[in-house]
Amino acid sequence: MKAVVFGGTAGIGRAVAQRLAARGDLVFLLGYDEASLARSAADLMARHPQQARVQWALCDMESPSGFAAALDAADVALGNFDAAIVTAAMFATQAELEADVELTRRLTTVNFANTVTFCEHARKRLLTHGGGWLTVVSSVAGDRGRKPVAIYGASKSGVSTYLEALDHKFRAAGLWVLCVKPGFVKTAMTANLKVPPFAGQPDAVARDIVSAMDRKRPLIYTPGIWRLVMLVIKHLPRFVMRKIEF
Ligand SMILES: NC(=O)c1ccc[n+]([C@@H]2O[C@H](COP(=O)([O-])OP(=O)(O)OC[C@H]3O[C@@H](n4cnc5c(N)ncnc54)[C@H](OP(=O)(O)O)[C@@H]3O)[C@@H](O)[C@H]2O)c1
Repeated sequence: MKAVVFGGTAGIGRAVAQRLAARGDLVFLLGYDEASLARSAADLMARHPQQARVQWALCDMESPSGFAAALDAADVALGNFDAAIVTAAMFATQAELEADVELTRRLTTVNFANTVTFCEHARKRLLTHGGGWLTVVSSVAGDRGRKPVAIYGASKSGVSTYLEALDHKFRAAGLWVLCVKPGFVKTAMTANLKVPPFAGQPDAVARDIVSAMDRKRPLIYTPGIWRLVMLVIKHLPRFVMRKIEF
């Protein structure tokens, strides 16, 4: 693969970039912090000396005007990328979001509108190149309206619906769309949260993501147990959802 990883400087995205580089795939990093990008690229090259020079470009999920130029830079560096992997997103607790309407606007814009906008830029390029992978990390939080993730979950629900439709529409043209639904994963994003049962590690989640890309799967839950957890949650009646705090 010749993969653009948007969010490859930390957590799940970093683990995916490491896994791809380890097996010889080419990686190009996108992110919004220059020092973090330079550090991550140097780390990839140090751990995987067989990897060609890892290049990167600045790209802020809050600034869609920069998406096209960042992807153009990736195209030039990789010689037309054939995989775009998006892990960059915002998280805030429900309490933080309810207390700050501007934070709600920013998070829903980044996680839904700007993520879809970035994917549209990537989708057009991938289809022009003859197809490839569009992999986006959504969340189990989008599967059902739930009290603790009412706003964050809604932003992820929109992304999941968009990705499902893309798969329906463009698979025949050679676009392999993968919607990733992690449960709780121990990363910087969740560092201040209480760890629930079935918490996953970024490396294991990255292994599941790369394996699903190889098998051209449209949807995965990771860790896999979350498919069962959410199956139950999706079937709970509303009067139960109103009572529980999950
Ligand atoms: N962790 C979980 O339990 C969990 C569960 C379900 C879904 N997810 C989803 O998984 C994805 C990855 O999360 P993670 O847990 O790996 O989080 P993370 O470790 O905090 O990594 C988030 C990445 O996004 C980047 N980023 C944040 N805001 C950005 C912006 N405005 N522009 C560009 N890049 C930005 C960060 O860059 P810097 O490192 O430079 O800040 C970092 O590379 C997210 O979509 C998240 O919603 C996570």
